[in-house]
Amino acid sequence: MALEDDIQQTFTAVEIELPETIKLLLELKDKFNIKEFNADTILKSVRDEDAQKRIFLYNRIRELLNTCRSCPLCLSDWHTQKVPGEGQLNSPLVLIGEGPGLDEDKLGRPFVGRAGQLLTTILEKLNINREKIYITNVIKCRPPQNRTPTQKEIKACSHNLELELSIISPKVIIALGAVPLNYFKPGSSIMRERGNWIVHGDFWIMPTFHPAYVLRQHGKTLTKVKWAVWQDFNNAIKKLTELSPGTLSKISLDTKE
Ligand code: URA
Repeated sequence: MALEDDIQQTFTAVEIELPETIKLLLELKDKFNIKEFNADTILKSVRDEDAQKRIFLYNRIRELLNTCRSCPLCLSDWHTQKVPGEGQLNSPLVLIGEGPGLDEDKLGRPFVGRAGQLLTTILEKLNINREKIYITNVIKCRPPQNRTPTQKEIKACSHNLELELSIISPKVIIALGAVPLNYFKPGSSIMRERGNWIVHGDFWIMPTFHPAYVLRQHGKTLTKVKWAVWQDFNNAIKKLTELSPGTLSKISLDTKE
């Protein structure tokens, strides 16, 4: 992807909107006086080297989300604020949930309720620091009565997740539940697909059960479901180690910086 090509396009066909990622990279170029013209090279250097530029992008992604009016969810009485993804824009691992619930809507942070506590515990058991990875949702506004988001809402919100993923370019994604699974592979069943890798562009996606689903189980089913989730997370970490040797130490609980 060359920035020049995209800019050229706007001159020849002014009605073509520049992709959000390109617009953001043009802002970054301007702000930091970057001479490089290749978007992939700029992003790679931002991910590998430059914390200042990552902070700029992180804040801009949040500001852009706050201006989003792509669907009416943010107008509902069930909605207090948008819930952006949080964590590190250079994380090789991204976790994607469905959408904010009551606690997330109140605090403006993803996965901070009971399901979030379970998720944090799973990550800690794997020696992963949740602050060192990136956690987000398919939709960023709480739906009324915490219902499943509609296809229309998911589509309308997709530019936000696409922007996050194109900046982060993670190696491995853990899709938590049916909504993120179907975002990448429409028409899929989480019961059938969990534990099976999906390769989507450059991403390796591991679908697993949503932590809220785990919390609703009892007895033998609970044991089975917990085991499945544990295996899926372990397989995701194993794949991460294969694809990107050395990255695990950067997201571990023991790393200080
Ligand atoms: N469930 C989700 O899917 N996302 C959250 O952020 C919290 C609960």
